[in-house]
Amino acid sequence: MPKKKAFITGIGGQDGSYLAEHLLDNDYEVFGIVRRNSISENQWSRLDQLNTKIEVTYGDLLDVSSLDRTLKIIKPDEIYNIGSQSHVRISFDIPQYTVQTNAIGVLNILEAYKYNCPKAKFYQASSSEMFGNSIDEDNFQRETTPMHPTSPYGCAKLFGYNIVRHYRNAHKLFAVNGILFNHESPRRGSNFVTSKVVKSAVRIKAGLQDKLELGNMDAYRDWGHAKDYVKAMRMIINHSIPDDFVIATGQTNSVREMCNYVFNKLNLSYKDYIIQNPKYMRPEELSYLCGDATKAKNTLGWAPIYNFKSLMDEIIEHWSNQIDGI
Ligand code: NAP
Ligand code: GDD
Repeated sequence: MPKKKAFITGIGGQDGSYLAEHLLDNDYEVFGIVRRNSISENQWSRLDQLNTKIEVTYGDLLDVSSLDRTLKIIKPDEIYNIGSQSHVRISFDIPQYTVQTNAIGVLNILEAYKYNCPKAKFYQASSSEMFGNSIDEDNFQRETTPMHPTSPYGCAKLFGYNIVRHYRNAHKLFAVNGILFNHESPRRGSNFVTSKVVKSAVRIKAGLQDKLELGNMDAYRDWGHAKDYVKAMRMIINHSIPDDFVIATGQTNSVREMCNYVFNKLNLSYKDYIIQNPKYMRPEELSYLCGDATKAKNTLGWAPIYNFKSLMDEIIEHWSNQIDGI
C-alpha cells in the first residue's frame, strides 16, 4: 500500500507542527508550505525535529501560483488548511491582511484543490471565534449555534467556513470544517494569553520581570491541548461522510482563573503582579466560550486526554525548564 500524502498549510505553526508529527506517526508522507517572511519563532523552530522526515517548500495562501504548483506536483490525498493570521486582537490592527489570508486564502486553496486534485479530502481550520457572543440557552456553543463573529478574524473565518460548505455542496468535494475551540501547548505563540501568562510568571519567579500587563481578565475560554485537537482533525477528514464538527473540552475558565492557577503553582499571587493595559483590550470582546463536542464524541469517538489543569501544568513545566531561554 502506498503511503497517504498529506499537505499542510501553516505547517510551521503550533497546530501544523503537531499535526505533521501525528500524521508521520500514522505512516503518512507529509508535505507543507511556510512563508518567506515568517519570524523565526514561527518559520522553522517548531519543525526542527522533523526536518528530515517532511518536505517543506516556500508558499503562501495569497500566492495562488504557489498553491497551484504545489498541489499539481504533490497530488495529496488530504489537504489541511491550517495557515492563517491567527491572532484575534491583531486582526483589528490589520483587518485587510487578515481577511485576505483567512477568507480569500481559503478560496485560493479551494480553487487549486478543485482543479488539481479534486479526489483529495480537504480540512479547514475553522474557529469558535465565529460564534462571537452567541450562546445556546444551556450555556454551550455547538454546531447549530448561530454565528455572529465579533472580530475581523472571526468574520474572515466565517467566510472560510461557509465557502468550504458551499464547495462541498456545489462541487461534490470532500471538504470539511473543524470548529475548534482554543487550544494551547508549549508551542503556543508568545502573544496568546496562556503562553504570555506562563512565560511571564516563570520570569517573575526567577526575578527577571516585575509586572505582567494584560487586557480583559474576565473573558472565559474553553482551553484544550493542541495534541488532542490535531488528532480530531485527522478523524474529521477521515470520517465516512464530509461533515463539520465542534472540538472542545466542555470546561471553561476565565483568564483571571487561569492566572490564579498559574501563579499559585509557582507559589505566587497574581494580584501582586498583574496590571491592566488598555492596549491589550479588544474593540469588541468575545466574552464566553464553552463548547459541546458531543457530535464528535458520538460520531468519531474523539475525546480529549488533557484537561485544563494537565494542560496548564505541561506548559508551566515546559517554560520552567527553559528559563534560560526566555
Ligand atoms: P499559528 O501557530 O499562528 O499558526 C498559523 C500558521 O499559519 C503560521 O505558521 C503562519 O505562518 C501561517 N500563515 C500565516 N499567514 C499565512 C499565509 N498567508 N500563507 C500560508 N501560511 C500562513 O496558529 P495555530 O494555533 O497553529 O492555529 C492553526 C489554525 O487553526 C489557524 O488557522 C487558526 O486560525 C486556527 N484555529 C486555532 C485555534 C487555536 O486555539 N489555536 C482555534 C481555532 C482555530 P507565519 O509565521 O508566516 O505567519
Ligand atoms: N492575547 C492576549 N493577550 N489575550 C489577552 C490578554 C493579553 O494580554 N489579556 C487578556 N486576554 C484575553 C483576550 O481578550 C481573550 O478574551 C482571551 O484572553 C484569549 O485570548 P487569546 O489567547 O489571544 O485567544 P483568542 O480566544 O482571542 O483566540 C484564539 O482562539 C480562537 C478560538 O476561539 C486563537 O487561537 C484564534 O486563532 C482561535 O481561532
